[in-house]
Amino acid sequence: MTESILALQNVSYRYQDDTPALDNCSLAIRRGSRTAVLGANGAGKTTLFLHLNGILRPSAGQVLCGGIPLDYSRSGMRKLRSLVGLVFQNPDSQLFSASVREDVSFGPMNMGLDEKEVRKRVEDSLQAVGMTESADRPVHNLSYGQKKRVCIAGVLAMKPEILVLDEPMAGLDAAMQDELMTVLDRLHAAGMTIVIATHDLDFAYGWADEGIIMESGRLLADGSPTEILLREEVRSALGGAPLVAEIIRRLLLIGIDLRDKGYLPRSKGELLQAITAQIKQEDTP
Ligand SMILES: Nc1ncnc2c1ncn2[C@@H]1O[C@H](COP(=O)(O)OP(=O)(O)O)[C@@H](O)[C@H]1O
Ligand SMILES: [Mg+2]
Repeated sequence: MTESILALQNVSYRYQDDTPALDNCSLAIRRGSRTAVLGANGAGKTTLFLHLNGILRPSAGQVLCGGIPLDYSRSGMRKLRSLVGLVFQNPDSQLFSASVREDVSFGPMNMGLDEKEVRKRVEDSLQAVGMTESADRPVHNLSYGQKKRVCIAGVLAMKPEILVLDEPMAGLDAAMQDELMTVLDRLHAAGMTIVIATHDLDFAYGWADEGIIMESGRLLADGSPTEILLREEVRSALGGAPLVAEIIRRLLLIGIDLRDKGYLPRSKGELLQAITAQIKQEDTP
């Protein structure tokens, strides 16, 4: 088994009003992976994420980081929060300082770093998300997409090994989503583990190398997205399948196997290429 950087072992969680949000959930996040967490509204994705950086503590079971159970003491939490950076779905619940620079400084300052190091980290993180020009702007004047990028910068400034993003694409237009993807790809290439909760099946299919499917607080499936997203029970839990996977499946039903050459299209562009190659091949006498 590949090394897991974060894991849940038989974790159950009930909110104060007794709502069961996680139910005997066991799963692992592989170091260096691009992991997509999928599930209908209320499936437990956000609750899962709040467990990954210790904001919530399991009612039963345990969360492991690097194979070691989380230490919920103050110092343990400080260490964990600099290791696991969580970006909330709603930027307004994460941003609270007057200016962009102040907000991004908050995390590294809290880590007790000296002023010079804080300044460097703030500059680097703002640069990484393309917000350098806005450093001195008041946070409340930013657009939704800009606020999201500031939230990510604030987490990056703590140099986490794992970046956990709760529905980061929600509320962003297509261009902003592309920009965010470029940022995330760069971070992943630099060695960061990235975990994203999303409703976008096409995105998960094309981007992730690991999938985690949640249903009613339980782990329904995990593994390669190209495989699990085609399973019947996963299709029914998610209310459909990725478009590319669906086309591959339907072509298969009429005897055209695009996977013949050991090549599996994961994006619309790759699918078009594969179909074009297939047609050309059939045209060749
Ligand atoms: N603060 C809360 N208090 C009580 N119940 C909650 C709270 N937050 C979430 N829940 C419930 O816990 C379950 C899981 O929710 P959540 O983790 O937010 O799912 P998801 O992020 O997949 O939509 C749902 O039934 C939801 O209504
Ligand atoms: Mg959620």
